[in-house]
Amino acid sequence: MKARKIREGVYWMGAVDWDRRLFDSLIPLPDGTTYNAYLIQGSEKTALLDSVDPSMVDTLLFQLEGVQNIDYVIAHHAEQDHSGAIPDVLEKYQNAKVVTTPKGKGMLADLLCIPEERFITVDDGETLSLGNKTLEFIHTPWVHWPETMVTYLREDNILFTCDFFGSHLATTDLYVADEARVYEAAKRYYAEIMMPFRKIIQKNLEKIKGREVDLIAPSHGPIYDRPAFIIEAYQDWVSGNPKNVVVLPYISMHGSTQKMVAYLVGALAEKGVTVYQFDLVVTDIGKLAIALVDAATIVIGTPTIHFGPHPNVVYAAYLANALRPKVKFASIIGSYGWSSKAVEQIAGLIPNLRVEILEPVICKGFPREADFQALDVLAATIANKHKEHGFT
Ligand code: FEO
Repeated sequence: MKARKIREGVYWMGAVDWDRRLFDSLIPLPDGTTYNAYLIQGSEKTALLDSVDPSMVDTLLFQLEGVQNIDYVIAHHAEQDHSGAIPDVLEKYQNAKVVTTPKGKGMLADLLCIPEERFITVDDGETLSLGNKTLEFIHTPWVHWPETMVTYLREDNILFTCDFFGSHLATTDLYVADEARVYEAAKRYYAEIMMPFRKIIQKNLEKIKGREVDLIAPSHGPIYDRPAFIIEAYQDWVSGNPKNVVVLPYISMHGSTQKMVAYLVGALAEKGVTVYQFDLVVTDIGKLAIALVDAATIVIGTPTIHFGPHPNVVYAAYLANALRPKVKFASIIGSYGWSSKAVEQIAGLIPNLRVEILEPVICKGFPREADFQALDVLAATIANKHKEHGFT
């Protein structure tokens, strides 16, 4: 794809990666992704904002064929899906300097072996003139790594945000065409890489306020020509209050835990609680992460293998602990054959969640009447806790 004009002197560049299905060897990408770079040609200087994944460097170099000079390469983020082609750009444009945060400089030097003399570091709020266009750099740490920043192009009211507000969505649409589709992709992205830093993201949202923004141009997914859509979504996701939602990841080997899960989901639904149930044998971990964004309670279902939880459940609990959603309550349900330490072991895996643990329901063999009654009590407890706290 060729470069595409956004405003006078401002172009989208980059690559659409339709077939990528995994990011960081961890995160599922059901809809592929894009690596967006942007070219800004001022009356005196030219800047390239970010680059592309190294696997797609040829696409970027093709787009740059007619560009005689680049003075600055703005590196918002050191991760290689944006920075990986910068060494090729520096090779082509021998006078170009990499503009980044002080932390970004260290990381880019470490990861890409870019020499010291090619860097310019910028402080929070610093500006860089391209002649008739002015770049304002705003430090926004932890969107996704600690070194990240965004750039505000003052004359055109465009905020270039790299991972911040991004969505893993391969598309030929330059601008958001289907808000519902982008909402899900952006929420998945937020959940997987920014949710652990929710309070810092809140501060970053505050920092970008007060500027007139006509376009938000991230480095993954389409450009937002209605910025309020994604800003309001982020404000909801980072807010302190969860919703009246239970997330229930589970494994069942011979049907006992499955029976308990089905019963509890039904009991919760009858009490007006929204439940997202995930069989970890088949679930897309990204869907689980999305559900955790709003959840007030997580209930983990597991059979007992030897004396502990199923390994897939351990993985899900570890992931939830790492993502630090704003859940307030947790419980564990499941079964065992002769003995179980599953509750203690799972509870030990989620210290970051700082949840109140509600009475687990663990049965020996197949669940019976007393177990179903205990599940009714658990459902009532969850529904009442949500109500007491005003989670709607
Ligand atoms: Fe899109 Fe954190 O890289």
